[in-house]
Amino acid sequence: MNFLVLHGPNLHLLGKRQPEIYGHQTLSDINAMLDRQAAASPHAITLKIFQSNHEGELVSIIGDHIDWADGILINPAAYTHTSVAIRDALSTVALPVIEIHLSNIYAREEFRHHSYISAVAVGVIGGFGTHSYTLALEAMIQILQQTQEN
Ligand code: DQA
Repeated sequence: MNFLVLHGPNLHLLGKRQPEIYGHQTLSDINAMLDRQAAASPHAITLKIFQSNHEGELVSIIGDHIDWADGILINPAAYTHTSVAIRDALSTVALPVIEIHLSNIYAREEFRHHSYISAVAVGVIGGFGTHSYTLALEAMIQILQQTQEN
């Protein structure tokens, strides 16, 4: 199983960025946690992990992995609330997508309540801090396992 993990803008500053909202763990901590989780899985899982502050770059990365990825885990960060281009890229590759948020976007400012991404995702996991990512990886493994069995 090949999974693309995408982190959107400003997530490279996790650990320093509003720790009262996003916690103290860094992006490297999250990536290391996902790598450990993938390695501990009984399934053969390969993760490719990217962070970008640029919408177009995220669009290109998604398209470039159309033939490689079996699923996409994405925290689109602020682009969640603005990006038709990322939504279209995800629709184009037509892979299972899980949208991730560290914070509970519905308990925050109103402009964060709308996501352009959710409608093209299998599901959304948010509000659990870094655990949102591990829950998402677990869910993605289950989704693909079910597809492979059918
Ligand atoms: C976020 C929530 C977004 O509203 C925000 O712009 C982010 C991070 C989260 O993980 O909670 O950058 O996606």
